Amino acid sequence: MKILVTGGAGYIGSVACERLLREGHDVLVLDNLSTGHREAVPPQAGFVDADLRDRAAVRRALAGHDLDAVMHFAAASLVGESMEDPGKYFENNVGASVNLLEEAGARGARRFVLSSTAATYGEPDRVPITEEAATAPTNPYGESKLMIERILDWYGRLRDWRWISLRYFNAAGASEERGEDRDHETHLVPLVLRAAVQGGEIRIFGDDYPTPDGTCVRDYIHIEDLADAHVRALDAMGRGVSGVFNLGNGKGFSVREVVTVAEQVVGRPIGQVVAPRRPGDPATLIASSDRAREVLGWTPAHTDLRSIVESAWRWHRAHPNGYRG
Ligand SMILES: NC(=O)c1ccc[n+]([C@@H]2O[C@H](COP(=O)([O-])OP(=O)(O)OC[C@H]3O[C@@H](n4cnc5c(N)ncnc54)[C@H](O)[C@@H]3O)[C@@H](O)[C@H]2O)c1
Repeated sequence: MKILVTGGAGYIGSVACERLLREGHDVLVLDNLSTGHREAVPPQAGFVDADLRDRAAVRRALAGHDLDAVMHFAAASLVGESMEDPGKYFENNVGASVNLLEEAGARGARRFVLSSTAATYGEPDRVPITEEAATAPTNPYGESKLMIERILDWYGRLRDWRWISLRYFNAAGASEERGEDRDHETHLVPLVLRAAVQGGEIRIFGDDYPTPDGTCVRDYIHIEDLADAHVRALDAMGRGVSGVFNLGNGKGFSVREVVTVAEQVVGRPIGQVVAPRRPGDPATLIASSDRAREVLGWTPAHTDLRSIVESAWRWHRAHPNGYRG
C-alpha cells in the first residue's frame, strides 16, 4: 500500500516507518521538522518538508501521489504548553488534521490511523481504563485529540473513510536505529537516562500519591509495539473496522521504579529530588488494551520495564548527541 506518514521524522512515526517498509509498503513522510529530524526518516521512504497547517502546501506535497492510507503522527504534544498556548494545539492538531483529511482524501486515501492519547480521558474514575470510560480532557492537548477523533467519525459517516484512533499511554524505548531525541524533553525515560549520563538530578513531582511508593504510576509501551499496532490497524480497516483503541501494556510502573530500573541498567546512581505535585497529574494511569488484543490481534512483546529502558539506553549510548551525530 502507499502510505502517507505525517510526523514520520519524529520519535514514534520514524519507527513506524521502519516497520511499514519492512512489511513492503511504499512510504511517503510529510513533516515540517518542527520537532522531528530529517536523519530519523528511513532512507527508503520518500520525504516532503511541508507544514500541515498550510493546506496549499499539503496539496502541492501530495500532487502526483496516489494514496491508500494515512498514519497521522504529526502533532504538538506537550500538555503544559497546551495550557499556555491552546491556539497552537487547536491549529496544529485539529485544523491541520482537517487539511490532511481533505487533501489525502483527494489523493484517494480512505484509511486513517490517528496517534491519540490517554490524555483524552482526563482523570479516570477507575483503572485499568477501558475505551468506554468517560472522556473529559483536562488540557487542550487531550481535547484536541478528542476533537480529531470526532471529526474522523464524521468523515467515516459522510466520506467513507475507515479510521482507527490509537490512544497511546506512555511511549518509551527505542528500535536499533531510532530513538528519542528532543530539544525540549519532558518524558521520564530519556530524562532519567540524561541525568545518569550528565549527573543531574531527576525531579519527582509528588511522592504522596495513593500508590505503593507514593509516586505516580504510568503504563509504558514500547514504540515497536506501537508500530506493530499500526500495521494491525491497517489490516483491520481492510476488514471494515473503525473506532478507538487503547494501547498500553496493562502494567503500571511508578516513577521511582523507573528510576531504580534505570540505575540498574546504567550501573550508576541517579540523583533524585522530590518536587511539588503538578496540577492535573492523576495518581495512576493504566490502560486496558483488551479491545486492541481482541479486534486487532495485538499483543505487546516488550512488557518488561527493564527491556524497555535497556533499549532506550542502547540507543542513547550509540547516539550520545541524538541525531546530530
Ligand atoms: N510520546 C508519547 O508518549 C505519546 C503518547 C501519546 C500520544 N502521542 C502522540 O504520538 C504522536 C507522535 O509523538 P512523538 O512523541 O513521536 O512526537 P514527535 O514530536 O517526536 O513527533 C511529531 C512529528 O510531527 C512533526 N510535526 C508537528 N507538527 C507538524 C505540522 N504542522 N506539519 C508537519 N509536521 C509536523 C514534527 O516535526 C515531528 O517530526 C503525536 O501525535 C503525539 O501526540 C505520543
